Amino acid sequence: MKRGFFIIFEGGEGAGKSIQVEILVSHLHEEGYSVVVTREPGGTRIGEQIRAITHNQENVDLDAVAEAYLMAAARAQHVAQLIEPAIEAGKIVVCDRYVDSSIAYQGFGRKLGVDTIRSLNALAVNGAVPDLTVLLDVPPEVGLKRRAKSRKGVDRLDMQQKDFYTRVYQGYLALAKEHPNRYVVIDASQAIEAVAQDVWRSVKHALLIANESTNV
Ligand code: TMP
Repeated sequence: MKRGFFIIFEGGEGAGKSIQVEILVSHLHEEGYSVVVTREPGGTRIGEQIRAITHNQENVDLDAVAEAYLMAAARAQHVAQLIEPAIEAGKIVVCDRYVDSSIAYQGFGRKLGVDTIRSLNALAVNGAVPDLTVLLDVPPEVGLKRRAKSRKGVDRLDMQQKDFYTRVYQGYLALAKEHPNRYVVIDASQAIEAVAQDVWRSVKHALLIANESTNV
């Protein structure tokens, strides 16, 4: 059976990932693809239990290294139980955040360093590299304002200092620059429909190229 396709959405707070994941998945369903939608931290029963720890507002004393390991632990479960089996079965996996979130938030935001986070995650991802990473690019000031206006509850990770989000943002831009082949950067300060169109155009293009290379 043909291997599936692995798509990740990344971005800072208030980038609009949830709605864009939803719109993309409906387009993919319309085109007849079999899709698995998931998120990090979470996506599995155990991963969602870990998410309850990392997002709990009371855990203000959660150590940065412990946080990095919790994210990687949730990811290991996610890759083994859901992501790899779905890709092996030929499905398209659409995931809201993945290892680059750890690089941006723990590596850049918490200043643990890119190499530390990469090596800490190597075992967790077990070689599962995304085929396409969609970065919804919105400056932190705009994203945080949007997030404050939304009805989503505040969690522990919404309560950081402003320079933390600036480092996360710069981290994402650095990652996109480092991996131009798998990254597409979309201006997410546009209207939802315009962002969705850009996302769809990029995904269709990536799927076309993937199909052409497997048909050779
Ligand atoms: P979200 O589901 O609303 O995007 O929230 C997830 C939060 O968790 C967000 O603030 C980013 C953070 N996060 C990390 O810090 N490291 C990670 O590896 C992942 C997956 C998420």
